[in-house]
Amino acid sequence: MAERTAAQPLLTVSDLEVAYGKAVVVHGVGFEVRQGEFVVLLGRNGAGKSTTLHAVSGLIPKRAGRVIFDGHDITRATARDIVQAGLAQVLQGHRIFTSLTVEDNLLLGTYVARQGDERQRLEEIYALFPEVAERRRELASRLSGGQQQILAVAQGVIGRPKLLVLDEPSTGLAPLIIDRILEVASSLCKSGLAILLVEQLVDKALRHAHYGYLIETGRVAAGATTGELAGSAILEQIYLGHHAPGEAAAGG
Ligand SMILES: Nc1ncnc2c1ncn2[C@@H]1O[C@H](COP(=O)(O)OP(=O)(O)O)[C@@H](O)[C@H]1O
Ligand SMILES: [Mg+2]
Repeated sequence: MAERTAAQPLLTVSDLEVAYGKAVVVHGVGFEVRQGEFVVLLGRNGAGKSTTLHAVSGLIPKRAGRVIFDGHDITRATARDIVQAGLAQVLQGHRIFTSLTVEDNLLLGTYVARQGDERQRLEEIYALFPEVAERRRELASRLSGGQQQILAVAQGVIGRPKLLVLDEPSTGLAPLIIDRILEVASSLCKSGLAILLVEQLVDKALRHAHYGYLIETGRVAAGATTGELAGSAILEQIYLGHHAPGEAAAGG
């Protein structure tokens, strides 16, 4: 069975706690994404996956914990500084600006990353995403939901991040387009970009990712290679909530 890559860590999250008001929903989460690795966070609805991602990206405050990205402590960095450090996040249900053209949406991605050579970046993106290139002059509102999600991914990678974070990119999309998005993520990963994915579609996610963590009510319940996780008892128990009658969830 394949082992986890021995590459250096790119993102290390330790003892992360996040609260909304007095309600603590992330209780000491820790995980790692290594250079060039494709990591998936799995867990039931409400487990705290999006909250974890938002705290890592600096979109909401952290109550406790530490985040190291690319050798720098970004625990207290602003969301803008974190993007500029190379951590790009495509938010859950994120739709692009429908009143702008496809190309202007892409250009926004370069402004956020505050880098020059926009033209060259656009050409790179159009080579990677032919379906975006074809529609570049059209208003983004004219794209299908799936094409808009691909545009959101393209907008995330145009700033040449080191880590791309995708929060349930499959939401509301048809199976074919979901496969396309996960294949795009895989091929971006093969070209050296690390990926952190949150996904409800366990089988699809396990097929594309290298390593997975299971999040249960704000805690990491397990971490293993996707080969080990596929079909494992703990995955069934935690993700699908299949406990035998009268039996408690697996401990420690
Ligand atoms: N803005 C918010 N204010 C208060 N509670 C929230 C907010 N967002 C999420 N929650 C709660 O935090 C918990 C974790 O939610 P979330 O991180 O969205 O889970 P997941 O992404 O795993 O489905 C849930 O109980 C949810 O109801
Ligand atoms: Mg979520």
